Amino acid sequence: MDSTSPSPYRMRIKNARIATCAGHGSTDEARLDLREHASIVIERGTIAYVGPDDDCPAGMYHRVVDVGGRLVTPGLVDPHTHLVFAGTRAGEFRQKMEGVDYRTIAKGGGGIGATVRATREATDDSLTASVLARMRVLASCGVTLVEIKSGYGLTVEHELRLLRIAREASHRRMETAASRDNPKLAGQLLPRTTTTLLGAHAVPPEHAHDRAGYVELVATEMVRRASELRRLGLRETTLADACDVYLDENAFTVEEARTILTAAKAAGLRVRAHVGQFADVGGAELLAELGGLSCDHLEVVSDEGLRAMAAAGTRAVLLPVAWRTLKQRPPDAARMRAHGVAIAVGTDANPGTSACLDPLAALGLAVRDAGLSPSAALLAVTREAAAAVGAETGRLEVERDADLCVWDHDDPSVFGYVVGGLRPAWAISRGMTLVGGPEELGAAVFR
Ligand code: NIG
Ligand code: FE
Repeated sequence: MDSTSPSPYRMRIKNARIATCAGHGSTDEARLDLREHASIVIERGTIAYVGPDDDCPAGMYHRVVDVGGRLVTPGLVDPHTHLVFAGTRAGEFRQKMEGVDYRTIAKGGGGIGATVRATREATDDSLTASVLARMRVLASCGVTLVEIKSGYGLTVEHELRLLRIAREASHRRMETAASRDNPKLAGQLLPRTTTTLLGAHAVPPEHAHDRAGYVELVATEMVRRASELRRLGLRETTLADACDVYLDENAFTVEEARTILTAAKAAGLRVRAHVGQFADVGGAELLAELGGLSCDHLEVVSDEGLRAMAAAGTRAVLLPVAWRTLKQRPPDAARMRAHGVAIAVGTDANPGTSACLDPLAALGLAVRDAGLSPSAALLAVTREAAAAVGAETGRLEVERDADLCVWDHDDPSVFGYVVGGLRPAWAISRGMTLVGGPEELGAAVFR
């Protein structure tokens, strides 16, 4: 993850309803931790105070903003995207809507393979331009951190290229942040990024007759090069923070995933996987065994798998637009919660199964389809989403990054209630304005 230098400003937001998402306790309400008549102080990009208005430290503030009882939440985290891709698959979508099965389309040369061909042919500049455009949409939704996977390159060089493009997208953000606190820059910052190697998204055509060779390549050279420190611009960084595997029937097997993820873990990458999108092949148990951050999709998962995940603290990442596009039966959030599995929700932004860049629209579907409770909803796109990518954000607590959103609403059930178009009036990333501003309060669309 990148480390933007923070704003020197000292700012106070007061008269807010703050959902810190940092509460303790077993219920979602307790974890949501809604505070009335509350203030938050931001100092050097970090939260210096969060608590009652009346106890807020006096002293010099560059700016004090009264938000009139409106909601303040952590910045949103999109924990699962495939943002680096070229080409549309709208034609394939038409087929799907006519009832053709996803796997039939893939076998006919469509699916992931179609996007791999288009992405390999695309220039760095055009991929970068589209990633930045997608990130700007996410920023407008209040996303302050986005996870971006590779997975449409499927050779060592192409996978590393996609990771580099994803990494550099957040560096762009820092160039514009260089003259911070300049109001003219509002809207030019981008969400921070965390990157994930998904070399095991599909077996590429070159390895069609050598699956084992491809798995070996991912587990050795790809993992090694994605996890080695390198100089990128002014900083030393790895290209990837985590490693993902598409673990499913007709994708990678548990044993193949074990080989890749064990190597990734040994190389210092965090591990997670696409699990149970179509069939339960034991992926949840494997990820729990490896201490994985998350199992994503989980339309199909056994009680044993959920128990193992709960014991290991592995999160479920629900991807509602994918189950909608594939016309699948949604997972049951209440069953997951009953097993003690924490739930995050992501867009799964990709050209095949989830052409969506609105995390709160995805959340609205999760509430409706999977029965995610309204109290769990906000947690699923903040605290739990951050935990699903291993990030120290998604909670409003002293000393954490000042990533937050001010909404033109006062009822937290607005998250889930509104499906699409819900935007923060003001989003702040490490103390800097990402989008909007207090002057945009007072024009709510569903209030
Ligand atoms: O998360 N399931 C695998 N990966 C994507 C789909 C990618 C694609 O179809 O291009 C997903 O749904
Ligand atoms: Fe995905």
